Amino acid sequence: MTVVSDRLDVLRAGLSHRSIVQNLRYLAEQYPGQVSFSTSFGLEDQVITHLIFENELPIRVFTLDTGRLFPETYSTWSRTLERYRRPIETFVPDAGQLQAFITQNGPNAFYESVENRKSCCHIRKVEPLNRALQNQSVWITGIRAEQSPNRQHMSNLEWDDAHQLAKFHPLFDWTFEQTRAFIGEHNIPYNSLHDKGFVSIGCAPCTRAIQPGEDFRAGRWWWEDASKKECGLHVRV
Ligand code: ADX
Ligand code: SF4
Repeated sequence: MTVVSDRLDVLRAGLSHRSIVQNLRYLAEQYPGQVSFSTSFGLEDQVITHLIFENELPIRVFTLDTGRLFPETYSTWSRTLERYRRPIETFVPDAGQLQAFITQNGPNAFYESVENRKSCCHIRKVEPLNRALQNQSVWITGIRAEQSPNRQHMSNLEWDDAHQLAKFHPLFDWTFEQTRAFIGEHNIPYNSLHDKGFVSIGCAPCTRAIQPGEDFRAGRWWWEDASKKECGLHVRV
């Protein structure tokens, strides 16, 4: 049985458990084999990965390896595998599409135009994500409301029309401090870039550190107009 948009209210009622683990377990029971969590190895994602693996929740964990991640992100990925000894399913860009794009536009075309940047994000993230979410009913992410003004208008459970599934953000109401504290208390491996002013971490050429007081996502695609800063993973209609 797959989830449909008008069942979201039923799901919302079922998600009123007190703990995140109980809510995640509830989803896994409702949709066996159809609940997936996407990790980019950010602080929030590491908290969720810890909860899934430590509690042996039957939720598939996957990542999109864009090929342009920071060395520190790949190191976090390795340390996570060493710590939990559980699989993280990996999706890579389609070789044909990537080869054609790079041959035509060069390796760093994303700096040249918004159109190129969006094409690169499409090939390296969006298309692999579409493959990863095939036949899934629930997509779990590390999105928090505090991360951007746009995300404050979202809710912890949403209908994703593009992928025809429910999206659940278990840490939606958590603050940055709360997330950091949880990582410290449980000694969870985390990306060392978070200690160097990086908050939201994506691909290396498209992410930089932010200054105190700046928006959490100010370091992503910093050369673009703020209204265009979407990679297409979390499209809202
Ligand atoms: S993005 O839209 O700007 O790229 P962001 O970095 O805020 O997203 O991350 C929000 C959530 O999207 C993460 O918690 C994770 O669930 C998912 N996500 C982002 N990038 C990836 C990736 N490379 N692989 C898997 N999931 C990702
Ligand atoms: Fe390409 Fe940058 Fe998008 Fe990564 S964030 S997929 S390098 S444009």
